[in-house]
Amino acid sequence: MENVATLIFDGKEYTLPVVVGTEGEKAIDISTLRSQTGLITLDSGYANTGSCTSEITFMDGEKGILRYRGIPIEQLAEQSSFVEVVYLLIDGFLPNKEQLNRFSRLLNDHSLVHEDMHGFFQHFPRDSHPMGILSAMVTALKGFYPYLEGIEEEINITVARLISKVRTMAAMAYKISRGHRIVYPRHDLRYSANFLNMMFDSPVRPYVIDPDIVRALDVFWILHADHEQNCSTSTVRMVGSGRVNLYAAISAGIAALWGSLHGGANQAVIEMLVDIHKDGGDVHKVVARAKDKNDTFRLMGFGHRVYKTYDPRAIIMKQMCYTLLNKLKRTDPLLDIAMKLEEIALNDEYFIKKNLYPNVDFYSGIVLRAIGFPTNMFPVLFAIGRLPGWIAQWKESIEDTSWKLARPRQIYIGPEQIDYIPIDQRKSSH
Ligand code: ACO
Repeated sequence: MENVATLIFDGKEYTLPVVVGTEGEKAIDISTLRSQTGLITLDSGYANTGSCTSEITFMDGEKGILRYRGIPIEQLAEQSSFVEVVYLLIDGFLPNKEQLNRFSRLLNDHSLVHEDMHGFFQHFPRDSHPMGILSAMVTALKGFYPYLEGIEEEINITVARLISKVRTMAAMAYKISRGHRIVYPRHDLRYSANFLNMMFDSPVRPYVIDPDIVRALDVFWILHADHEQNCSTSTVRMVGSGRVNLYAAISAGIAALWGSLHGGANQAVIEMLVDIHKDGGDVHKVVARAKDKNDTFRLMGFGHRVYKTYDPRAIIMKQMCYTLLNKLKRTDPLLDIAMKLEEIALNDEYFIKKNLYPNVDFYSGIVLRAIGFPTNMFPVLFAIGRLPGWIAQWKESIEDTSWKLARPRQIYIGPEQIDYIPIDQRKSSH
């Protein structure tokens, strides 16, 4: 029988439907498994679990394919802009000129952050990580803009607010962490140029906008805009499934992205390269550590849960990296170390066997560093880029009539029932 999987358990046979996606990928629908058999499935890290069907992003990790709403990432990186990609992901189609202009105006109209929020920013300790600040401030937005939610127009305004204000708040967090005066958004600048200006303009050294740097940032954001059900996006969907407001769901996504195995990897790559540089630049030593079973060290920027070939975003980012460094006439000892590392790892049996290729973070860290961003801002830049994907996935999930409160199960392996012991009868050590 086609599109049905058969399970034999305890001598009984059960049939389960198989769902087929537009690109031919198949999933066994186990939604009746527990009621039919009493069984659940166990899948640590959800590596084989589809949590939803989605029309937003297609990726094939074996072939190195990534498409947003059907359009290959290579075409978007070459021809599109980040704001256009935001529209594409959230609304589902490429905007015409009028729609794009209207959306750009909306983003401009919502770019300011409520003046009362400035005080919050000022009182974070100077050493606070900007990801922590951003996550906290995005939740706080709900208190400042509480009335618009639910109906379609209100969702659109909330979306525009988030896309525009998160960028402003990221730049504010940076300026405050340096003890510098905040730079306000400008109506005459487009999304990426506006952000660069808010980050780097100062009364003593006015920021000169370089179109190549603007383009590099735009492409970086396009490449990060969505990546189907990754850790932070699944977090947004999961938190959102409890029907929290969009700000809270996005704040949770930012927190999930912070980790060094996910969005914090671009920061971790640079920190690793700096350590190698300080230690004399011996790349073979770190490769040996990465291969050592008894050492928890991993090569940051290598490997991916889904891509088992070159990450298509890494190919674009690598090219961008060379072009930008050439144009800026910048030599960077870290880039030399990165290139050596790449060459050794790509030819090493351990990395070949395990399909460990450089991922997008390996090169993006170097590009962001060349632009002048401090290392702790890298994950924040990733978060700004991933925001449209989170919003698109959240919107798709709340519009899906079959969507349920996310609530996985477990197999309990703790002690069987034991009795409570009053405190004075307990042994001093366990
Ligand atoms: N360096 C050395 N060995 C590695 C690396 C690495 N970077 N990545 C995976 N391996 C090894 C593991 O030790 C494991 O070996 P084993 O089978 O002998 O135990 C094998 O490859 C498989 O690794 P898993 O951790 O099971 O693979 P998983 O799919 O869970 O991990 C991950 C993917 C988390 C990205 C991993 O490759 C990693 O830690 N990479 C470094 C961090 C990084 O660059 N993260 C960015 C990811 S991209 C993104 O989020 C945008």
